[in-house]
Amino acid sequence: MPGIVIVGVQWGDEGKGKATDLLGERTDWVVKFNGGNNAGHTVVIGDEKYALHLLPSGILSPGVNAIIGNGVVVDLEVLFAELEALHARGVDTSHLRVSANAHIITQYHRTLDKVTERFLGKRQIGTTGRGIGPAYADKINRVGIRVQDIFDENILRQKVEGALDQKNHLLVKIFNRRAITVDEIVEDLLSYAERLRPMVADTGLLLNDALDAGDVVVFEGGQATMLDVDHGTYPFVTSSSATAGGAATGSGVGPNRLDRIVGIVKAYTTRVGAGPFPTELFDENGDFLRSRGFEFGTTTGRPRRVGWYDAPITRYATRVNGITDLVLTKLDILTGLDQIPVCVAYDIDGERFDEIPVNQSDFHHAKPILEYFPGWKDDISRARTFEDLPLEAREYVLALEAMSGTRISVIGVGASRDAVIVRHDLVD
Ligand code: IMP
Repeated sequence: MPGIVIVGVQWGDEGKGKATDLLGERTDWVVKFNGGNNAGHTVVIGDEKYALHLLPSGILSPGVNAIIGNGVVVDLEVLFAELEALHARGVDTSHLRVSANAHIITQYHRTLDKVTERFLGKRQIGTTGRGIGPAYADKINRVGIRVQDIFDENILRQKVEGALDQKNHLLVKIFNRRAITVDEIVEDLLSYAERLRPMVADTGLLLNDALDAGDVVVFEGGQATMLDVDHGTYPFVTSSSATAGGAATGSGVGPNRLDRIVGIVKAYTTRVGAGPFPTELFDENGDFLRSRGFEFGTTTGRPRRVGWYDAPITRYATRVNGITDLVLTKLDILTGLDQIPVCVAYDIDGERFDEIPVNQSDFHHAKPILEYFPGWKDDISRARTFEDLPLEAREYVLALEAMSGTRISVIGVGASRDAVIVRHDLVD
């Protein structure tokens, strides 16, 4: 029985909820393996709407075990705020487990994220300001604070001292901020210890045992391929491994336990924050996609940058993740267009590139080479089989599939949970 990874293909916000909903009742475990509260998803169950940033969506399904893996950075204030908001609405969260090895986002990470962005001026990344980058920087620098550290005050104090040593020089001398004291950080972190203790576990062991027992484990990737720290548009990326390999390192299972790699891709493209985006639109077509697709950030509320579908990006994502199945979301947003442009390659200084150029500067001034597909006018939101779609919509999907290097197994045709066409089951 499978370990199933779900990853974003583009720059995030592709609508992973469609895939997690589809797997729904067959899921035994949901694992968040990267990122922190920079993600944002709204889950609608019945008449209730839940906005989650840090907790995996599985927390809302009774009987599903939710895991925050070692690859995640955890802001304890946010963790408990989200848990309390769920408790207030009667949601049982006793099935949540947090890795003892996950790193903690502290006040100094949040402060550094904000002041560093301001200092960068025009070179800003456009981060979510949640302290994600500085927390991962400390992890790699080996001065991070892990979940297990907050259960031993002595160790915690030593580690916070080590972490603050250089940071206070930076904050005071470079950024003109006040120094942060060891006491305030230690006191803050210790205040969560007793509530956190029952949730902390060797989550890698739990997951391996679950896979051995034949359970279905869904590894839910935060952000997306083009925001991955290694494979994305560096430096305009997040600081974690958002690609399928991150599911193994970020949760403590071997890569051979990952049976299906499901890539989520929107029928057009969006991006939040700065960085290259070859198919970006600045005209009325952009306004059309943004308003029809409700393209405003869940975490920050920022209007998203929007553009046409970019086929080389999907092909690249298929390659770096090993995608076995694509879920194409929001096809219905394109309904009504006379023709639909698709980027099939790039023009870079007069030269054609069929794949993403390896040199980032080239990608910054890549111009899309567009192919035009006929649009359709009929409402497709009630289509439930591929044959229910108008011919033009089928041809659009088949063209994207042919260019993707893998198969399109599921198509999202509307906002409601059941508005999907399943061509191939994601669990078999
Ligand atoms: P950070 O993750 O806050 O460091 O931000 C780095 C970049 O990733 C910025 O461009 C953010 O807008 C982007 N980003 C982070 N999380 C998400 C997400 O969940 N969806 C879309 N973009 C994101």
